Amino acid sequence: MQWWRARSKGRQNSFQELRFGSSKIDTDLINRIERATGQKPHHFLRRGIFFSHRDMDQILDAYENKKSFYLYTGRGPSSQAMHVGHLIPFMFTKWLQEVFDVPLVIQLTDDEKYLWKDMTVEKAYEYAKENAKDIIACGFDINKTFIFSDLDYLGTSPGFYKNIVKVQKHVTFNQVKGIFGFTDSDCIGKISFPAIQAAPSFSSSFPQIFNGKENIQCLIPCAIDQDPYFRMTRDVAPRIGQPKPALLHSVFFPALQGAQTKMSASDPNSSIFLTDTPKQIKTKINKHAFSGGRDTIEEHRKYGGNCDVDVSFMYLTFFLEDDDRLEQLKQAYTSGELLTGELKKVLIETMQPLIAAHQERRKQVTDEVVKQFMTPRKLAFEF
Ligand code: TRP
Repeated sequence: MQWWRARSKGRQNSFQELRFGSSKIDTDLINRIERATGQKPHHFLRRGIFFSHRDMDQILDAYENKKSFYLYTGRGPSSQAMHVGHLIPFMFTKWLQEVFDVPLVIQLTDDEKYLWKDMTVEKAYEYAKENAKDIIACGFDINKTFIFSDLDYLGTSPGFYKNIVKVQKHVTFNQVKGIFGFTDSDCIGKISFPAIQAAPSFSSSFPQIFNGKENIQCLIPCAIDQDPYFRMTRDVAPRIGQPKPALLHSVFFPALQGAQTKMSASDPNSSIFLTDTPKQIKTKINKHAFSGGRDTIEEHRKYGGNCDVDVSFMYLTFFLEDDDRLEQLKQAYTSGELLTGELKKVLIETMQPLIAAHQERRKQVTDEVVKQFMTPRKLAFEF
C-alpha cells in the first residue's frame, strides 16, 4: 500500500480517505487529463499526491467541448514563515493554469487569520502581502492571475459581497456547527466566515475578470482539509442559481518528524522553510527527518528500509520529478543497499537548489509586482 493511503488507516481524523462522496483520481481520469491537455500529467497526479476529486469529469467534458473554466485557490496568511508544504497546491495550480490555459483567482484570507489567531488586522494584511510574494514566485502568469486579500477586496468589489450574503442566507447556524464544529461561544466572525471562502467559487464575484458573465465553472485545487468549506459551497450553489465548483484534493504534507506528527509553522524544525539556507536544509534533514531505516547498518543491509514511513523518501515523492530515479531509490532503500544517510543526501541535494531557485525568484517580486497582481482588473482571457 502506498504511504499516503496507509497512514490514514487507524488515524482518528482520517481525512486522507475518500469521504463524503468524493471520488478517487484514478488512472482513467489521469489519462483523460493527458488527452485533454496534450501534456504529461504532473507527478503530483501520477503519484497520488492529488488523490481525490469532485466533478473533474464534468470540467473535462466541458473543456473538450471548448467550454473553459477558471481556477480558484487560496491561503490563510497566518505568518510570514511559509514552508515547502504550503507550496504544494500552488505548484500544482500553476501547472493547471499552464496546461489548461485558464484564469486563476487566489484568495488570501487575512480576515480568517485575524478571526482565528491572536493577531491584529494590520498584521494579517501585512502577512497576506508577504505571502503573495512567495505565491507569485511559483511562476503564475500575471496576465491571467488575480490575487486578493479579503480585507481589501471585500470593500471594493461590486460582486463579491453580494455572493457572500447570498451564501449566508442559505446556510443555517446548525449547518455550520455540524460542518465546522462551531460552538455558541465562537465569535460571529468565525461563524460567517465560511461564506467568504465560498464566494470566490462563483464567477460573479469577479465582474472585472468575467465581464459580468455569471455561471462560469470553477475548479478548486486544495489540500483535503479545505473540503468542508466546499461541500458547504456545493450544497448552496444550486439554491442560489450557480454551478457547483469542482475540486481536486491533495494529501496532507508530512512534518519532518513523521506523517503522524502535527506540522507547525512556528516550529522551524518541523519542515523546510522557504527562507532556509542550504546549511539549514542539510542540518534539518540530517537531524530531524524521521527515518524508516534500521537501527544498525547490519540490520539495515539485512532487512532494508521502510519507504512507507521514511520522511526523506516521502519528501522525494513530492519534489524529485524523475520517476526512474525515484523508483531506483525506492528499490535500493527497500533492499538495504541504500542507507538512510545516503537517502538523506539525495533529498538535501534535491531541496537545496529548489529552495535557492525559489528565493531567487522571490527576490524579483517587488512591491510593484505584488500590487499589479492584486489590482482588480481585466485578465487576458475571453470567455
Ligand atoms: N482557509 C484556507 C487556509 O487557511 C485558505 C483558503 C481560502 C483556501 N480559500 C481557499 C485554500 C481555496 C484552498 C482553496 O489556508
